[in-house]
This record gives sequence, structure tokens and C-alpha cells, in this order.
Amino acid sequence: MTTPSKTNAFSRRVVPLKRCAQDPLPNGGWIEYEDFPVEIDVTAPLLHSLFQDHWQEVGVGHMVDGSVLELELNQPPKIVRLYDGYLTVVTEGWHLHLCLEESLGGPTCQTPPELRQKRLITRAAFYRRFNPKGQARSWGIQFWNGAGDRMMNLFLPNPFVGDQEDLLPEHKPNLDKLKLYETLRQIYVLGEQEIPYTENPLKRPFISVCRSSRCNPSQNWQPIYEALQSAVEQADLNIDVISSGCLEVCKMGPVVFSSGDRTWYTRVTPELAARIVQEHLVEGEPITSHLYPPVSRSQS
Ligand code: FES
Repeated sequence: MTTPSKTNAFSRRVVPLKRCAQDPLPNGGWIEYEDFPVEIDVTAPLLHSLFQDHWQEVGVGHMVDGSVLELELNQPPKIVRLYDGYLTVVTEGWHLHLCLEESLGGPTCQTPPELRQKRLITRAAFYRRFNPKGQARSWGIQFWNGAGDRMMNLFLPNPFVGDQEDLLPEHKPNLDKLKLYETLRQIYVLGEQEIPYTENPLKRPFISVCRSSRCNPSQNWQPIYEALQSAVEQADLNIDVISSGCLEVCKMGPVVFSSGDRTWYTRVTPELAARIVQEHLVEGEPITSHLYPPVSRSQS
């Protein structure tokens, strides 16, 4: 179990970095970047709102010399959640992970400190690509990791692209499509509008049971899930009960993870699931006999 560090109160107002940069393009155009803070209380609401509320309008991909990837969402994502520092977004056909917070590397914290820093977003910027005539032609958000490499970027609505992905005539752009970029820029770059959340949407606590068959006998995860759900309801706790893919223990299943203080439990039965909710989540007393990594007798 890792005790979470004390967090500051969520602020709805972004403090602008006032940092702009331009990178020249080979065609004589350029990209203009406006940086915004990479704190989780800024990136989480931005990404949560893009994937939950604006999934029809955004694309996800990467753009480096020699390669462009652009993926769209045809339905709302099935999962938008933070686990061990990584944002995970799962759609019908693909999923993504993006490191928003230091990822410790599962229950044994196996990721070396330098790798944690390399994987983390260390720079984020809204961008506009300009053609050689100085006309903006595409809009998006770019992320960089701790090594300074470009991570994925988000493509924001383009007023020159029609509904069928066709290019509109130069003199007939659909300027309504710039509203999303302008609103997000006001919130996250300029700090002129409040973040539209009262708390960090990716920090909502959850308790999860692994449903992967690898940690046999976790195939039988449903009774654990149901026991967690009814215990959480009975205790009237404001946390999500979910099932998930691998929780990085992969032995001594069924495995349960509580996000609030990063705690993993093994060999969970429905009875133990109810005790975890009551004793750990309500009374604050973890059940040491089932913790992972195991707690030695002298520690318990
Ligand atoms: S498959 Fe269940 S924890 Fe890895």
C-alpha cells in the first residue's frame, strides 16, 4: 500500500504560462505553440472533457516526419480512467494510454525513477499550423514526454474540413468549428474562463476487480464485483466499483485494487470484498493478511 501524497485543493482557474514558440515548417509555413501547465489538475479536466463531451469532434494520433496517424471515435469511449499515472481511454476499436502523472509501476513500484520522469508529460501546448501565407490551417494539442519527444496529439475541429472529411473551398470555411479550440484556449492557456469541473474528474476514487483470465481463478470475478457493489451501496460510499483488465499482480487472484491509497488485495472472496469496503474504505483499516505485496508480520 502506498500512502498518497497530500494534494492541494482543486483550482478551477489555470495560471497562464505565457509561453509561446514557433517552429518553422519546410514549406515556408510554421507551427505556433502556446504552452499550458502539465499539472494533473489541468490536463485531467481537459482530456476528460475532450473524450467524454467532445469525442465526436476530436481526433487522436501523432504527427512526426514521415508518419501521421489520426484516429476518430464513432461512439463515446467505453472507459476514461486514470490508473497508476496513466490515462486510459478505451473505444470500440482501439485504446490509448497517456502518462499524466508519475507512474510507479504497479504494486511493487518497479519503474525506476528516471524512467518515470521520461514517460511523464512534461510539456503540453495548443498549436496552430500556418501555411506560407500566414493563414492558420490546422488546430490541435501536442504533448511531449520527459525526454523531449513528441507524444500523441489531439486534432481539434478544422473549419476547412467538411463532414465527409472533404476539403471545403478556401473562401467557405465553417468557422463555427473553431469554437472548441477558442473555448479550450481561454480555459487552459489564458485562464480567462473557469475549468468546467468542481473537482478533478480523473481523481474520483474507484475500487476494481481484475477480470482477466491470466490471474486464475479470476475468471470468477463477478461475485467479487457484486459483493463490492452491494457493500459500497450499503456503506453509501461515493466511489465507483468497476472491473478492469490486468492489475499487474497476475497471481493469487481474484485481485482487487483500491485507487484511493493504491492498495492491491489478493485471493479476494465475496466475503473479503465486503470486509475490504467496511474495514478498509469505511474504517481506514486495511486487511493486512490479503495485501499485495504481502506485509511481513513485523509490519502488520
Ligand atoms: S491478469 Fe489479473 S492482475 Fe494481471
